[in-house]
Amino acid sequence: MKPIQLFDPASSTYTYVLFDESSREALIIDPVDEQLERDLQVLREYGLKLVWAVETHAHADHITSAGRLAEHTGAQTAAPEACGIRTAAIQLTDGSTLKFGDQTLRALHTPGHTAGSMSYLWQAGEQPHVFTGDTLLINGCGRTDFQSGSAEALYHSLTQVLFALPDDTLVWPGHDYQGRTHSTIGAEKAGNARVAGKTLAEFKAIMDTLNLPKPRRIDEAVPANLSSGLRHDADGAALLSVRPAVGYAGDVSPQLAYDWWKAGAAVLVDVRTDAEREWVGFVPEAVGLAWKQWPGMALNPGFDDGIRAAVPPGKKAVLLCRSGVRSIAAAKRATELGIEAYNILEGFEGDPDEQAHRGGRGGWRYHGLPWRQG
Ligand SMILES: [Fe+2]
Repeated sequence: MKPIQLFDPASSTYTYVLFDESSREALIIDPVDEQLERDLQVLREYGLKLVWAVETHAHADHITSAGRLAEHTGAQTAAPEACGIRTAAIQLTDGSTLKFGDQTLRALHTPGHTAGSMSYLWQAGEQPHVFTGDTLLINGCGRTDFQSGSAEALYHSLTQVLFALPDDTLVWPGHDYQGRTHSTIGAEKAGNARVAGKTLAEFKAIMDTLNLPKPRRIDEAVPANLSSGLRHDADGAALLSVRPAVGYAGDVSPQLAYDWWKAGAAVLVDVRTDAEREWVGFVPEAVGLAWKQWPGMALNPGFDDGIRAAVPPGKKAVLLCRSGVRSIAAAKRATELGIEAYNILEGFEGDPDEQAHRGGRGGWRYHGLPWRQG
């Protein structure tokens, strides 16, 4: 078994999909925001159910799609505890394991590129694999000059943690800028230009004189990645017209959706689960039609029939979910069924804040539109 290796050319980032052959449960490592549709397509093609979206660290060069993947697939997010990604459902420490089917991913704390950085070990049958993020790259390593980096810590992680793995362990890096896909621990131990055969002092001297430019997206990417890539940039109430979208009619603010609905031009369809409507709150007289259902967030097999029945010809559909992510998937499906379907930005609850609490950052409820509980 091998991981599926995917590449984002804009940031030279590798994303990995690992799966268990019999149960089809899958895990994704370091997914990239702009590649969300590609990754969902890969999951569909292979018939996989994503159960984990995992970060190696809080990236400075791209934004993660982990939060949106979780909304689309029902996967849980996991990130190294020391990275401060408080929206991640599971905070990993050294030795933590994540299960997908009969497979296990084990976290190895490998600080240095950032203080929280982790590598992940996967024993696939006889073959060990390690996903090294920006800790160990092919014939290189991650930089240590920003984001709590430390050359000393990285030297220790490389020489004492990663190079202690069996020589035949396949190394799957977080980036490569020259088209190389993987290496082995044995090859890196023998020939890595930065660290092979180097003392700590020599390594530090190399790292101190790299003089790399600041990553282009660091000011935008790091804050976004500390909330699993969920950004509060949806325009919210300020948006008084339709924002065009690909694959469905467009994005609308909660207020515009409400106005259309009250004027009789649109049907308001709440695509959250029955449990969310019951426990979090609901919009009186909206159509409740789950896109996915507990347990397991499986796709609702009755969605197609339900939306056809709910939206008469000539009317628009405005789709409401928790934070405006799941409703995009539902709007795309409704569009395929011939319905003029819009996604309501920010959803019912809005995006989570730094403490992972929702409700204070936009959304239907926040904007004072009618809803009830219980
Ligand atoms: Fe990085």
